[in-house]
Amino acid sequence: MVFAAVFAGGIGSRMGNSDTPKQYLELGTKPVIIHTIEKFFINEKIDEILVLCPKAWVAHTQALVEKHLPEGKKITVISGGATRNGTLEKAIEYIENNCEVTEDTVIVTHDAVRPFLTHRIIDENVEAAVKYGACDTVIPATDTIVESGDGKIISSIPDRSMMYQGQTPQSFRLKELERVLASLTEDEKAILTDACKIFSIKNKDVYMVEGEVFNIKITYPYDLKVAHTLLKGKDCDD
Ligand code: CTP
Repeated sequence: MVFAAVFAGGIGSRMGNSDTPKQYLELGTKPVIIHTIEKFFINEKIDEILVLCPKAWVAHTQALVEKHLPEGKKITVISGGATRNGTLEKAIEYIENNCEVTEDTVIVTHDAVRPFLTHRIIDENVEAAVKYGACDTVIPATDTIVESGDGKIISSIPDRSMMYQGQTPQSFRLKELERVLASLTEDEKAILTDACKIFSIKNKDVYMVEGEVFNIKITYPYDLKVAHTLLKGKDCDD
């Protein structure tokens, strides 16, 4: 069984002072979140979709799903957590309490605000999660990465050929993810906000799936403008 967990629990503070979280803003003919859910709805490797959004937006999200998506694949909308990791925990809890989970169960976690993921990326995530237990979607870094401890003086400049930028999806065998999360101390939980980083720190292999430059995350108003331009082009489809 393969679950897609669409993370839409954020409020999009970096988009500016809008009452509407960025995942609900219109992109072409429908909200960003619907573009994202559609990718998983159409993909044959995904069995069920779980959408996690702010509590106050659950009914609205449910109505959007009913309006824009036909019947055919189970889509459940529930509230997310206060942090992105909290949203991940809610997704795991829902699946554990409501579905039959085996060692082969896979969860593909994806930002609702990355509507341009492709079917190749989804397919390769599922395959890599089954084979390796965990995977991250990345692209090679194009800019040189500069590290600084104090934000004033450079402490190191890592070799760019070894640097990648993380995107989503991040996918896992669910049972493996639960075991790794359960091994964290409370202090580690507070610091480690990225599930793939948790695997890596616990010396577990995380396979890298090749992302796409256009698999952008809508973070700032500028990104929404880029998203509108991308939507007009055809190069975001497989
Ligand atoms: N997210 C989530 N639950 C949270 C926080 C974030 O599911 N408690 C989701 C967001 O909805 C988004 C994705 O994680 O789809 C990536 O996070 P980010 O771009 O940081 O979204 P926001 O937290 O909404 O944005 P900001 O940091 O600007 O407030």
